Amino acid sequence: MDQPHRNQGYPLQLLYSPERIQTEIARLAKEINASYEGRELLVIVVLKGALFFAADLLRLVTVPVRMDLVKLSSYAGTESCGTVRLTKDLEFEVAGKDVLVVEDIVDTGLTLVYLLDLLKQRGAGTLRVCTLIDKTERRQAEVTADFVGFHCQGGFLVGYGLDLDERMRELPAIYQMIQDHDGEI
Ligand code: IMP
Repeated sequence: MDQPHRNQGYPLQLLYSPERIQTEIARLAKEINASYEGRELLVIVVLKGALFFAADLLRLVTVPVRMDLVKLSSYAGTESCGTVRLTKDLEFEVAGKDVLVVEDIVDTGLTLVYLLDLLKQRGAGTLRVCTLIDKTERRQAEVTADFVGFHCQGGFLVGYGLDLDERMRELPAIYQMIQDHDGEI
């Protein structure tokens, strides 16, 4: 196992290397290409965390894609406050479209349920979810992703788009934040 190290003062343990991430993304792209053959996809990328993932994934998707961006917020620090807000709406109509939501992490599932309900209300034709990471341990809402990169137990993750208060998104790998000797992360 790689040694813990510090980045911007935070102790981190490597969880998924850039190579592992790309291997899973290639598998996901294959699954998506097979599922949507002959159709056009409306991909909804959930900002900001899924940005890096979507950029790598969509370059391997061979079915035609239109992409839109949505932004939702529910987190402060490492804790979800439970109330989801839409802070940037979509540009495109979703009615009747084959919609694929691209998420970074499904954790409690509250964000995803909120977004899926909204897209259903707006009449999405088909609606599926691709997430890089599925953290099933803390799930509070009944929701499952259709395409999953990694299943992960818990902990707070940073890097490859995932942030702690807007920091460390730029790291090329995904790290678990570990407890310091004083119990802080
Ligand atoms: P949920 O509503 O609890 O499922 O949280 C979903 C969102 O919270 C994700 O799209 C992430 O943006 C953020 N999130 C959840 N867990 C983590 C984490 O471990 N690191 C960084 N962001 C996280």
